[in-house]
Amino acid sequence: MTPLTFPVLSILSDGKFHSGEIMAKNFNVSRAAIWHAISGAEKLGVEVFSVRGKGYRLTQSLDLIVENKVKQAIGEMANLFNVTVLDVVDSTNDYLKNAAVNGHPHASCVVSNIQTHGKGRRGRQWQSALGENLTFSFLWRFTKGAAALSGLSLAVGIALIRSLKKLDIHQALLKWPNDILVEDGGVYKKLAGILIELQGDMDGQSAAIIGIGINLNLSKKQVAKIDQPAVSINQFTTESIDPNNFLAIIIKNLAEVLAIFEDSGFTSLKDEWLSYDAFQDKVINITSGDGNLIQGRSQGVDNFGSLQVVTDAGVKTYASGEISIRKAE
Ligand code: BTN
Repeated sequence: MTPLTFPVLSILSDGKFHSGEIMAKNFNVSRAAIWHAISGAEKLGVEVFSVRGKGYRLTQSLDLIVENKVKQAIGEMANLFNVTVLDVVDSTNDYLKNAAVNGHPHASCVVSNIQTHGKGRRGRQWQSALGENLTFSFLWRFTKGAAALSGLSLAVGIALIRSLKKLDIHQALLKWPNDILVEDGGVYKKLAGILIELQGDMDGQSAAIIGIGINLNLSKKQVAKIDQPAVSINQFTTESIDPNNFLAIIIKNLAEVLAIFEDSGFTSLKDEWLSYDAFQDKVINITSGDGNLIQGRSQGVDNFGSLQVVTDAGVKTYASGEISIRKAE
């Protein structure tokens, strides 16, 4: 990409045709410089149409994330948060992890318009494309050690469900430990994912880098790249969602839920989590942390956020693992 790539994308973000010549005049550069800026965007996976005599246009209009817009949307609490907006980054989690080691402040958010190497849980990739996903990480410093943070990812799931409700999206559910799903045509499809990375001591102070990826407006091309059924927010609302406003809503909800979690642990959030549990009382397969596959009936979570499963060998408790619904035979 070139320094002009994002300024040009910002002009093209209205989804209309813009002449290369006029953009060149506006930026006081050559038409070749505009062409280079656009091919830089294409290298980042952005699809740009070019039609002779008309100019360049994106496949659709999009709202870029802009620092001032996010801060304005947060409103009077904006000074409590440190918001950094990047054009492009490999992974917001990696970026913030680095910054956190170097003393980046508590309650910081790093969001990127394009993430080129997004990380998912269990070594998976998180696919995203410009305007199609919201990808950001949030840093929360705890006075407790990492050992006391069990249930943290479930608490973050609650903050996301609360934020979706603010957009009038009420059908989202939680899959233990931390996927946001929506049932669509009898199939659970993923709307958002959470990847938490911890730093610091087990007993002393610790910091959580809370990475969140939310599908806003997936194209067919993007859906085809994702290795599991996926849905996006625009399928559940007729309102157009400005990612700047949505991010502000999430930041405020995260801060609220994390403060509760810090104060009294997962216990006081457990009932709310259970009310959003997609798999409550369902027969599931669970692959535990050590790779064993077990079947059982999901019985929700305990005060530490561990999953309770009724199996042939009695009730088992899982602090980590991967679950899937067991299809009727
Ligand atoms: C998952 O469901 O597997 C977790 C997905 C987490 C993706 C987000 S996108 C922003 C942040 N940066 C990353 O590299 N990953 C997380």
